[in-house]
Amino acid sequence: MSTSLNNKLIIFDTTLRDGEQSPGASMTQEEKVRIAKQLEKLGVNIIEAGFAAASPGDFEAINAVAKTIKKSTVCSLGRAVENDIRRAGDAIKPAKHQRIHTFIATSKIHMENKLRMSPKEVLERAVQAVNWAKEYTDDVEFSAEDAVRSEVDFLVEVFDAVIQAGAKTINVPDTVGYSIPHSWGERIGYLIKNVPNSDQVIWSTHCHNDLGMAVANSLSAVINGARQVECTINGLGERAGNASLEEIVMAVKTRKDIFNLESSINTEFIVPTSRLVSTITGYPVQPNKAIVGANAFAHESGIHQDGVLKHRETYEIMKAQDVGWGANKISLGKLSGRNAFKSRLADLGIEISDETMLNAAFERFKDLADKKSEIFDEDIHALVSEEYVDVTVDNFKLISLSAYTESDKKPFSKIIMSVEGKNQESSAEGGGQVDATFKAIESVVNSDAELLLYSVNNITTGTDAQGEVTVRLSRGGRVVNGQGADTDIVVASAKAYINALNKLYSKFERAHPQV
Ligand code: KIV
Ligand code: ZN
Repeated sequence: MSTSLNNKLIIFDTTLRDGEQSPGASMTQEEKVRIAKQLEKLGVNIIEAGFAAASPGDFEAINAVAKTIKKSTVCSLGRAVENDIRRAGDAIKPAKHQRIHTFIATSKIHMENKLRMSPKEVLERAVQAVNWAKEYTDDVEFSAEDAVRSEVDFLVEVFDAVIQAGAKTINVPDTVGYSIPHSWGERIGYLIKNVPNSDQVIWSTHCHNDLGMAVANSLSAVINGARQVECTINGLGERAGNASLEEIVMAVKTRKDIFNLESSINTEFIVPTSRLVSTITGYPVQPNKAIVGANAFAHESGIHQDGVLKHRETYEIMKAQDVGWGANKISLGKLSGRNAFKSRLADLGIEISDETMLNAAFERFKDLADKKSEIFDEDIHALVSEEYVDVTVDNFKLISLSAYTESDKKPFSKIIMSVEGKNQESSAEGGGQVDATFKAIESVVNSDAELLLYSVNNITTGTDAQGEVTVRLSRGGRVVNGQGADTDIVVASAKAYINALNKLYSKFERAHPQV
């Protein structure tokens, strides 16, 4: 039977690679490993852990994921360039199941203006890239970047050649989010019909969301024979993002009558995974986002509430529990000891082997438990992220903060922060306490950075919940996100701002795969 027409849908998650290409969403090695473990628990088939040639840090992070993950396949991206592919092959070496994903652009606009290569050269390089990758693993995926704007006959030629060279998965990307569901489906169907030996490979699709149709286009590709979908948690990704994993998976599951396909996703881990990715990247989930938004299962109108109470299915096509709502367990409280804390960390897939760090994280947990009676799993993830942030980049640290508001007076903030180990004090007035605090920090650092985004989200419910703040700063073309969490949002804001400054001042430089 044709490999592309069986009833399994392969889920290829690229949160750690394309998702990481969202402005400021870069992740540390520890964060990538933590997300990868959660993706494995979620049941994704392939984890694209990064682009190994981007930087030594990216290589190490992929390598760490490869050492940790046992069930899912670990993949690295590499351009059709020898060094990229060798770096990818070396990075994934420790993984039990390994894949190299290589790509080259096939559209006229990319070949002429970006690559400055003729179609013949592109075709030869594509084959060469697959040959290099095959030296490391049999599991080679080839993508024709900007397939949406490529001549379909050229695509047929290139795919024929790379299949002959041994590629096992053929990915057809809508790199710029340009396609419309019916024409995308037609294109996939045409390729499967016209590429020789198309039944020997898995057909895959990778859609961007520039016109808001990434999920619809991916599903149309599936209807027309694609059996792998590339997607990300919360639809994170370059520009408007990628197709969202949770929407694809739940569409296929809920409309089994149409798709008649099975994925290996344990759907009850969808919401916890979404929360984890949001906490780590600082990208909040909009409340009305399908499946994982706070309102996805909330019924506001009286008629709807009445209907749901009488018979849930009057207004609900999925069960909230099936996608993990309600799974945010109360983990621990004020009386929980170090062992309980350590064992909950282990349940959440978090390993802190360094005793000093573990003690510091436990101290933070105790401080939090003094302010908040119930500690949820999300609180623990936020707390651990902060612990790692502080030890990896610590140019600047918040030592203390006092902020005042009095009617008819200008809000005021006084901070003490440590700059490379030396305490410095500063104060400022502002439009509000947060504004005053940022001004006080800036009067010490003078970063000259532009504030692109400031957002506050509550991690759990209730007025004692921790506020999770994201600050996005830009300076000299570099964009970084900083995160901070605290039961007091002014403190959370100060932590987020300082976290962003630490990232801005770190020496972290990386290449972009599509440049
Ligand atoms: O969008 C794209 O074309 C990509 C490729 C590298 C698959 O991300
Ligand atoms: Zn992409």
